[in-house]
Formats: sequence, C-alpha cells, structure tokens
Amino acid sequence: MEHKAIDGAFGVEITGGLDVTKPLTPDQIAGIDALMDGHSLVIIRDQPMSTEEQLAFTRQFGPLDIGFKKVVAQNARLAEAEVGDISNLGKDGKPAARTDKRILNNIANQMWHSDSSFQKPAAKYSMLHSVVNPSWGGDTEFADLKAAYDALDDRTKDFLDGREAEHYALHSRFLLGDDSYDEAQKAAIQPAWWPIVRVNPATGRKHLFIGVHARQVSDLTVPEGRMLLADLLEHATSPQFIHRHQWHTGDTVIWDNRATLHRGRRFDLDEPRELRRTTTLDDRAPELSLAS
Ligand code: OGA
Ligand code: MN
Repeated sequence: MEHKAIDGAFGVEITGGLDVTKPLTPDQIAGIDALMDGHSLVIIRDQPMSTEEQLAFTRQFGPLDIGFKKVVAQNARLAEAEVGDISNLGKDGKPAARTDKRILNNIANQMWHSDSSFQKPAAKYSMLHSVVNPSWGGDTEFADLKAAYDALDDRTKDFLDGREAEHYALHSRFLLGDDSYDEAQKAAIQPAWWPIVRVNPATGRKHLFIGVHARQVSDLTVPEGRMLLADLLEHATSPQFIHRHQWHTGDTVIWDNRATLHRGRRFDLDEPRELRRTTTLDDRAPELSLAS
C-alpha cells in the first residue's frame, strides 16, 4: 500500500495498493491500523462503495458501533441498520424539511465531537463515505488531539492528570436548544465518564479526550469544569491542529475517534448532501482509559 502525507496537516492519503471493495489481506489491515495509530486520519479517494461494501470493509477492523441510533431518529432510508445515514434526504431521495427530526439531529454534527464518546465502549474508527455533495459548504474538519495535548503547558497537563469528564449524548442537542426529548428517552441514554487524557497503548502517545458531549469534570464545580472543557476545546481546535476535507464523490475518510475531533461545516439544507457512516467499537477501551 502506498501513501503520502497531507500537505500542511496531520493525516495521510492512501494512493495505491488498496481496493476497498475487495476483502483485505491481513497485511493490508495491519497496514491501515498502523497508519491510523501514527496519523489518526486516512483518506482514500475515488473508490465508490455500496452500503454493503462499506459494511464489509468496516467489519474487517472490528465490531460495529451503532451508538448513533440512540440519538439520531432513523428514517430507514437505507436498508442496512448499521449504516449511519449522514444525509439530509427523506425516503423520496429529496432534501427533507428543515423541521424534520433527522435534520435537527444532524445539525449537532456541526459541533466538535468524538463519535459515541457518550457510551462505553466508545467509537474507534469512523468511516465516512461521500455519495452526493452540495455546491457550497459541507466540508468536514478534523482536529488532532495528540498534537493538542503535546502543546498544552505543563501546569495544565498536571491539572488534567487523573481527571475525568462526563460525556452525555444529549448535551450538544440541549446546547442547540433542542430539548424535545421525553424523560424516558433522556433516561435511556446514560452518560459515560472518561479520563480527559488517554494513552494509545500501540504508540504510548497521550491525547486529549474532549468534545461537545463533555459537560462536567470530576471534582470541579459544573461552571469551572465546563469552562475548562471550553478552553481545552478552543485550544485543540485552533488552526494549526486542523485538517479540512473537501468531499468528492467516492472519497472515504477514516478517523480515530480516540485521537481526533471532527465537525461538519454548514451547507444549504435545500441541496442534497449524502454521506454514509460506519463505525467500529473501541473494544480495548479499558486499557485506553489508563491515564499514564
Ligand atoms: C458523522 C459526522 C460530519 C459531517 O457522521 O459522525 O460527524 O460532515 N459527520 O457530516
Ligand atoms: Mn460524528
């Protein structure tokens, strides 16, 4: 497999020796895992996949995460329930009304987050595959939480040592003013606590683990904890840590949710935008949650 660095940002692009629609060899799987451990973001261009092919490709990297189904009302437009329909389309294939529940839910994807950080185990790799793109906007941005951790001052690193943050799936929705969830729905989605600094055991690298699902910090008042989380998010998403991906049909971007944040960018909701997401579970989470 050949790959090259992405200009001016973290991540790599696979440029040859890979056909995502064919079963992978053990060497190819190990090769992609190694690229993910080192670079946290892998781009594959111009290889269209069906939903079945995307599922088969993803399953080679671990058990599937379907945590998104807890929050995002599905319209069953796609036959495969394990695939996240990251589109603004209704069953008729046309952009759904702005007031449609799925459209409201997907707007939260425009805030910096790590997929399924609100559950245990959380997500490992997410794979977003581009089908249709709007004429303006709709890029996806990624932030490198390894570099962001390294760039913290020592005093902040010490302060974060051993602290955990609580991640709650509906926090981002509440921030957007969408609280149309009844008590049963709220109770069905229990929050998860994660160390704010985690280690990838494959590399020994530390990274921040934050994002818009995080709403409080252990042993701090809610305001102090939220302000700390807001400061860390501002730091981690400053321009030097960001890669912006401009989608073309047939692109697949794979990111490591343990080591990156991502967000979609605004686009005209009246124009079709269709991406499909498959995600694996971080089933080694207990080791990863060790702070050092
Ligand atoms: C996602 C997500 C961002 C986007 O699918 O998990 O956050 O650009 N998508 O649609
Ligand atoms: Mn996401």
